Amino acid sequence: MFEHVPRYAGDPILSLVQTFLKDPRQNKVNLSIGFYYDAEGKVPVLDSVAQARDRIDVSAPAVYLPMEGDAQYRKAVQEAVFGADHPAIAEGRIATIHTLGGSGALKVGGDFLKAHFPGSELWISDPTWENHYNILGGAGFEMHAFPYYDAATNGLRFEEMLAALRQLPELGVVLLQPCCHNPTGIDPTREQWAQIADALAERNAIPFFDMAYQGFGDGLDEDAWIVREMARRGGAMLVGNSFSKSMSLYGERVGGLSVVCPTPDEAARVLGQLQATVRKNYSSPALFGSRVVGTLLNDPGLRAAWHGEVAQMRTRINAMRRGLRDRLQALRPDLDVDYFVTQRGMFSYTGLRPEQVDRLRDEFGVYLIQSGRMCVAGLFEANLDAVAQAMAKVMD
Ligand code: LMR
Repeated sequence: MFEHVPRYAGDPILSLVQTFLKDPRQNKVNLSIGFYYDAEGKVPVLDSVAQARDRIDVSAPAVYLPMEGDAQYRKAVQEAVFGADHPAIAEGRIATIHTLGGSGALKVGGDFLKAHFPGSELWISDPTWENHYNILGGAGFEMHAFPYYDAATNGLRFEEMLAALRQLPELGVVLLQPCCHNPTGIDPTREQWAQIADALAERNAIPFFDMAYQGFGDGLDEDAWIVREMARRGGAMLVGNSFSKSMSLYGERVGGLSVVCPTPDEAARVLGQLQATVRKNYSSPALFGSRVVGTLLNDPGLRAAWHGEVAQMRTRINAMRRGLRDRLQALRPDLDVDYFVTQRGMFSYTGLRPEQVDRLRDEFGVYLIQSGRMCVAGLFEANLDAVAQAMAKVMD
């Protein structure tokens, strides 16, 4: 019956995690998947999250959530993404639903856009998170890349990016990451973002923000700056967000999709179609994680504690970035490795070629993904020296 079904080659990121787990070497280092590890090398349980979890009555029946998710959770998502005092919230112009992580937001948003803008195609940065192609291509979009990463400078090809966006056809969907770009760690400046926003408005494009690393760049509010700014300008856009990383709740699948609309009437229509899209896909979201996040974010004390914990994670990542840069500079003064400290968030694009990545893994037990992307949040004091030494040996 199923002989014709092709074997799955595996996902490049998730398969590597399996290879890592099977690697018997004691000194192996996982810098592949986007997990934040603490100073002891563990995926943390945040105190604020643990306190919120302890307040949940686990004896309550696990009834279905509505298609759009719990109202308290959705309110909390809007405030986390846009800021509690954002005029678009007060004006009732945002339709927000609970999604299964940031990936769920991409899927529901992609299906929604494909259904209601069937002639639109989609533009995405070169490079981007590999799974964007699976999820959004899977929603039926023809996908195009716009210039982003400059291998020569390890920076942004801003002028080329802008020129490409200025030539978009009407109603093109543009997938953007507002902070901590995955996989490069390179973000536009605020001045550059403002020019991008102008170009998108001129072309009547549909921006779709994927915000999976809010808080890991400059701060929870700072990282959402361009999202809030564009929502203030009044145009339409989609924003997917995730608490997987910022609350260390990867497996609970806690994310959101917000569609900012020009009017409250449009927001109500859109909310209905998002509900219909969820119903067609998986009927309703998962309960427990949204209880935890809703409890945390709707309690001012816990929310403040969480902000503090996100700041600690961000500070530790930046310390690891400096630590790696300093060690590499000492070991390889012939190389310019400053990009480790200018790139933001969990990831750095090292520029390492696939054969260098293979050497790091095979000879030194240091796992990066094949593109040369490193999860710097997987560095900690105990592995920093070994990683720097291994990299110094394979870099050219
Ligand atoms: C990553 O890019 O490593 C993360 O977003 C996790 C994933 O699912 O790929």
